[in-house]
Amino acid sequence: MAVTNGIPAANSKNTLTVTDNRTGKSIEIAITNNSIPAAAFTQLKAPYGAGEREENDTPYGLRVLDPSFVNTAMITSEITYIDGNKGFLMHRGYPIEQLAEKSSYLETAYLLIYGELPSAAQYSRWQWEIMHHTFVAEDLAHIVRSMRYDSHPMSIFIAAFASMSAFAPEANPALQGQDLYVLNKSLMNKQIVRILGKATTIAAMAYRIRINRPFALPRSDLSYTENLLYMMDHMAEPDSFRPDPRLAKALDILFILHADHEMNCSTATMVHVGSSLVDPYSCVAAAASALYGPLHGGANEAVIRMLTKIGSVDNVPSFLARVKSKQELLFGFGHRVYRETDPRSKVIRQVADMVFKVCGREPLIEIAIALRDAALADEYFTSRKLFPNVDYWSGLIYKAMGFPLDFYPVLFVVPRVAGYLAHWKQQLDSGKNKISRPRQVYVGKSRRDYVDLNDRQERDIDGKNGLDEIPHYISKRRLTKL
Ligand code: SDX
Repeated sequence: MAVTNGIPAANSKNTLTVTDNRTGKSIEIAITNNSIPAAAFTQLKAPYGAGEREENDTPYGLRVLDPSFVNTAMITSEITYIDGNKGFLMHRGYPIEQLAEKSSYLETAYLLIYGELPSAAQYSRWQWEIMHHTFVAEDLAHIVRSMRYDSHPMSIFIAAFASMSAFAPEANPALQGQDLYVLNKSLMNKQIVRILGKATTIAAMAYRIRINRPFALPRSDLSYTENLLYMMDHMAEPDSFRPDPRLAKALDILFILHADHEMNCSTATMVHVGSSLVDPYSCVAAAASALYGPLHGGANEAVIRMLTKIGSVDNVPSFLARVKSKQELLFGFGHRVYRETDPRSKVIRQVADMVFKVCGREPLIEIAIALRDAALADEYFTSRKLFPNVDYWSGLIYKAMGFPLDFYPVLFVVPRVAGYLAHWKQQLDSGKNKISRPRQVYVGKSRRDYVDLNDRQERDIDGKNGLDEIPHYISKRRLTKL
């Protein structure tokens, strides 16, 4: 009998047979694109076992538990493919290395969102629309201006996008009806160009708040990244300032590398939140909130803090020892999907050399190289498939370019807005959008009756007898005793 990949010919059907040993029942599940529908397992029902908890819902069907989605797909997608074992990344079929070398960020954004590279006419119209939707409502500027000068720029970015939905009632399904984006594709495209256009303006406003300077108005005659640098660095009239084209180009390549990465934490958030049919501005605010975390887009900022704390090449061995004893995290290392290398980090190294030629070599790179070499020579890291990811090097470039440390995640979220919008559009265009509502496996208290206040025993909270001491600001003048 012929055998293919270890499966005898007779059984080489594209199906999975599962036998529930609790009942002896077998089901056959079709395998499509090397995946199976988790819902198929609800066919496997069984009576409660002896002493089994009612909360297990056993007679209602088997559930699949996958905390943090380690091996669960939440969508089928045509946008981005990653081969983690080969360190390969492509957008709509085009390898990231080719897009970084030959494309521009706005062209890559078009490709991600609409599925094909634009013609010259399409690209010119696309760029014109986006660069003429860079202004934000003056009332929104007041909201941003009201933020404290020491606010983290990501807080400002998230607050601005959450507020922006209030300035587009015509784009709000809560006000205009849930089928708004199903029925009106031109309205969807208008929000797409508005969000892409305003993302850089909001980013620049966040930066200007940090340096306590008035906002600089956007320029529609500059490229996408030139305009961002212009709004950040333009000071006062008359000012013939134009951003260094070499830095604008370097930033454009970095934006291409950060544009999309399939179902990362923040893009999955965009799809999850978008499934409730809330407006796209609120979705971007939610996605940006996920990216803000140090395990995700906040890692480029955390890498620089880590390298600064290490302080010198001589301290690398003792730092790695602390990582291996789980006292520290090696930020910028590791990835849920990539198991060999992050293809973006190879391109980023070339961008670093470009920027160092213009702005001067960033001294921390010596520690970064020594740290990388030591980790890649250490079985603790290689056995766990840990190597530099996209964030390991990007912070060094931003530091060489003089961006403030807490602005680095903003330089990640701005380009990732294209990926958010591409997945949001794909979900709504599919015609199969259903609200995301995961199951759970309940292991908490079984049913019990209410206990009157006087009949209760005091129970500890988190192993402590009652709440921790929560400090209040009360001036000493009020605490005097007469
Ligand atoms: C991005 O998803 C995306 O695509 C993200 C992203 C994108 O473009 O959107 O690529 C961008 O977010 C890149 C990742 C940036 N984050 C960091 O650099 C933070 C540091 N990295 C880790 O927190 C971690 O590697 C993650 C979060 C990136 C991945 O975590 P996983 O897949 O959940 O891995 P894990 O926690 O299961 O780790 C497996 C083992 C564990 O050790 P053991 O329990 O087996 O002993 O590896 C260890 C972990 O402790 N480990 C690390 C480590 N990463 C994993 N140990 C030290 N330093 C690290 N960085």
